[in-house]
Amino acid sequence: MKKGAFSLPTSFRIFYMWLIGCCFLYFSLVTGTHADECPVQLNPQSVVVKYGGSVSVNCSTYVPHKGMGWESSEGGVPMTRDSLTTWRVSELREWGIEPMCFINYNKEQCTVNLPVTIYKTPDSVSISTVNHNGPMMEGNQYELQCDVLNVAPVQNLTVNWYKGKTLVDQTIFTDTIKTPVNKTSKLLIRPDRADDGAQYWCEAKLELGEEGPQPPLTAPSDALSITVYFKPIINETKLPSIVPVFRGYPVVIVCEAEGKPEPTISWSVNTNNIVSETLTITESTPEDLFCIANNSVGITTRRVKVSIQENYVPIIVGIIVAVVLVIAVIFVYIYCINYKKNRMGHYNLRKPRTHNGLLAQSL
Ligand SMILES: *[C@@H]1O[C@H](CO)[C@@H](O)[C@H](O)[C@H]1NC(C)=O
Ligand SMILES: *[C@@H]1O[C@H](CO)[C@@H](O)[C@H](O)[C@H]1NC(C)=O
Ligand SMILES: *[C@@H]1O[C@H](CO)[C@@H](O)[C@H](O)[C@H]1NC(C)=O
Ligand SMILES: *[C@@H]1O[C@H](CO)[C@@H](O)[C@H](O)[C@H]1NC(C)=O
Ligand SMILES: *[C@@H]1O[C@H](CO)[C@@H](O)[C@H](O)[C@H]1NC(C)=O
Repeated sequence: MKKGAFSLPTSFRIFYMWLIGCCFLYFSLVTGTHADECPVQLNPQSVVVKYGGSVSVNCSTYVPHKGMGWESSEGGVPMTRDSLTTWRVSELREWGIEPMCFINYNKEQCTVNLPVTIYKTPDSVSISTVNHNGPMMEGNQYELQCDVLNVAPVQNLTVNWYKGKTLVDQTIFTDTIKTPVNKTSKLLIRPDRADDGAQYWCEAKLELGEEGPQPPLTAPSDALSITVYFKPIINETKLPSIVPVFRGYPVVIVCEAEGKPEPTISWSVNTNNIVSETLTITESTPEDLFCIANNSVGITTRRVKVSIQENYVPIIVGIIVAVVLVIAVIFVYIYCINYKKNRMGHYNLRKPRTHNGLLAQSL
């Protein structure tokens, strides 16, 4: 039993050692093969260069060789016996350049490619509305367009869409073309009244990785300010649906509406149309009134009911006067009683004094 329990971990240990051994063998084989293939090192291993910018990359080796150099349509370096050779271009203007470092080693020649990314910031970034001019109508759909001219590489381009300071959309491009291109990104919007005056803009961003410029290059468009027309809305907090009016006391009511363009506000009384925000209501005003707010987008109406109230003021005044009178009578009555009591008190107080006087006299 003990022996069996011990032998299990041992076999595991052997298995692990075997596994590690295999891995080690595998990696040394792979790296060994790699080193065998081409024993040169590029520094840096890849470059990101602005169009027309300068670049230099070292290719070095630690092995004895029969010559090494750079093969390139620009900045090629003839074979040298040194262990370091530098590819150098002061103004790189060749899209799709593919330099490679070669070495004559072990009776053969091998090469290592240098990945080169040449970038160019856009000539212009502009925003526009597609097939539309002038104000937009609330609830309709519109298309905005962002044009990015002459940018490379498009694979690393992102177009960001902003409304004010908020990022609302992003477009990425998957083309692998290396030369500069024109690109268009579109954005569908359905503006509402809150968007009136909103500023849309787009931005071209080139994300070129750690070797590229930091922070990534961005080019913004101008802002496109949109005007949104919308149907009037009548402010209901300022205009109750039932307006109480006391007989003999006219009331002025106000109908306020928000809309774009600025609405025309009128009151419909019987068959008359009174163009005014305010209306004076008396007991002779009909019970049903309508406030009408219209603009080029639409018409909004609100019904207002006039509720004529009897005037209770004289009655209330009468009651108050009566109450005051009753209170006054009660006060007078209480005062009279107190006055009597006080007089009696006054009379009573005299007694001890007389008594004192008597005492004083007796002393
Ligand atoms: C390339 O090699 C030269 C000479 O050794 C050195 O001065 C230079 O800094 C190296 N450049 C890079 C990018 O390593
Ligand atoms: C990009 O657009 C500009 C202006 O419209 C034009 O001159 C240029 O040829 C275009 N470039 C490409 C690559 O289509
Ligand atoms: C450019 O974009 C591609 C695709 O997104 C990415 O693989 C590549 O690393 C980017 N280039 C750089 C230099 O970051
Ligand atoms: C209506 O009027 C009130 C009081 O002035 C105001 O607080 C409110 O914002 C208005 N509502 C609308 C929708 O304009
Ligand atoms: C809006 O009201 C104005 C003034 O009453 C009037 O001239 C116009 O025709 C009205 N528009 C609509 C669409 O009803």
